[in-house]
Amino acid sequence: MYNFIFQNTTKIYFGENQLGHLGEELKQYGTRVLLTYGGGSIKKIGLYDKIMEELQRAGLTVFELSGIEPNPRHTTVNKGADICKKEKIDVLLAVGGGSTIDCTKAIAASAFYEGDSWDLVTHKAPVTKALPVLTVLTLAATGSEMDTGSVISNMDTNEKYGLLHPLLLPKVSFLDPANTYSVSAFQTACGSADILSHVFDVFYFTASEKMDMVDRVMEDVIKTVVKYAPIAVKELDNYEARANLMWASSWALNGFLQTGGFQAASCHAMEHELSAFYDITHGLGLAILTPRWMEYILDESTSPQFKKFGVNVFGVDASLSDMEGAKRAIACLSDFLFKELGLQSTLTEIGMDEANFKVMAKRACRGDVLQGFKPLTPKDVENIFRMCL
Ligand code: NZQ
Ligand code: ZN
Repeated sequence: MYNFIFQNTTKIYFGENQLGHLGEELKQYGTRVLLTYGGGSIKKIGLYDKIMEELQRAGLTVFELSGIEPNPRHTTVNKGADICKKEKIDVLLAVGGGSTIDCTKAIAASAFYEGDSWDLVTHKAPVTKALPVLTVLTLAATGSEMDTGSVISNMDTNEKYGLLHPLLLPKVSFLDPANTYSVSAFQTACGSADILSHVFDVFYFTASEKMDMVDRVMEDVIKTVVKYAPIAVKELDNYEARANLMWASSWALNGFLQTGGFQAASCHAMEHELSAFYDITHGLGLAILTPRWMEYILDESTSPQFKKFGVNVFGVDASLSDMEGAKRAIACLSDFLFKELGLQSTLTEIGMDEANFKVMAKRACRGDVLQGFKPLTPKDVENIFRMCL
């Protein structure tokens, strides 16, 4: 077990009717606010109006950056950073899903950098300072509302990388499950697959030691998603289901489940190549990849953990051998993702072929080996991509 430092200082307002605190929280950081959002969902659900009302009531000066893309682009980060510099912005307010929040975090750091934001994402230049970021989450998936990560895409070069820095941790996040009622069944399913993958990848399935206490909580987060995602997909406005998914999203990646161990995230590294090249929804890519990755790395060393997952989460028969139990577990996970949640199960169905597999596999491995539950070479990753066709 590794030593660790755990510090997560994001203040959470959870539940309905908490936006009355938005003005007082923002004012702690200044009066000039950049409000950021995506393609318009927040206007459709009336959230934009509610937020503007609170900002006006608090007497704040508001600037806006709209149109942040799913898989947010570095060019949009640059636009936001320019506004921050020109308008002397004090604080950023991101209202949306992971893409809006990630883009806003990158803007927060780029506001203090005199160059292309892509330099920060690719670590050519260090993050030295960042504006404070507050968030109003509208989609349960990425954990960005309570983590230090920001994932940015460069569509000119088909690259997508995570920028991680403690300065990017949101100061305050408002989590109202009712704001996710309008998330489509498809995006709900994708978000749920993403939450599961955060637990799997870092690191429920691991070759390293784990703390039993943390392992148990991981299983409870997984079971929460397995219980509530199918409900939310069918009843979009089920508060209990939305609330459980929302809190699971935050806790899957806020650092707590990562305590005591270390591991690179294999499925995430592979998926970021899919979305970098084909601009697909992150959670869908993960859903398609995960069961194939499990199947590919299944052997005597991995089967006990896969079987334990099957027994504890899906009620697989504990008397089966490790190998048989693991196979059942993979089948249960596939049924859950593709039958219960209704996600597409192959890359072919979403218009992908093998044209870019070689280069994507090489990039996923950073040209060398992709670490994880089992180390993967570029050839392995290419094989896994092929299994997804
Ligand atoms: O743009 P709008 O109009 O808001 O529509 C969005 C978008 O089309 C829509 N949506 C969001 N909230 C909604 C809603 N539609 C109706 N009602 C609402 N309440 O949903 C679509 C997808 O939104 P997006 O923000 O892209 O989804 P998600 O939260 O899944 O974020 C995905 C991005 O986060 C990155 C992914 O790679 C991807 O770029 N990740 C970020 C991580 C982090 N910061 O730690 C970790 C993750 O592993 C992930 O890589
Ligand atoms: Zn993810």
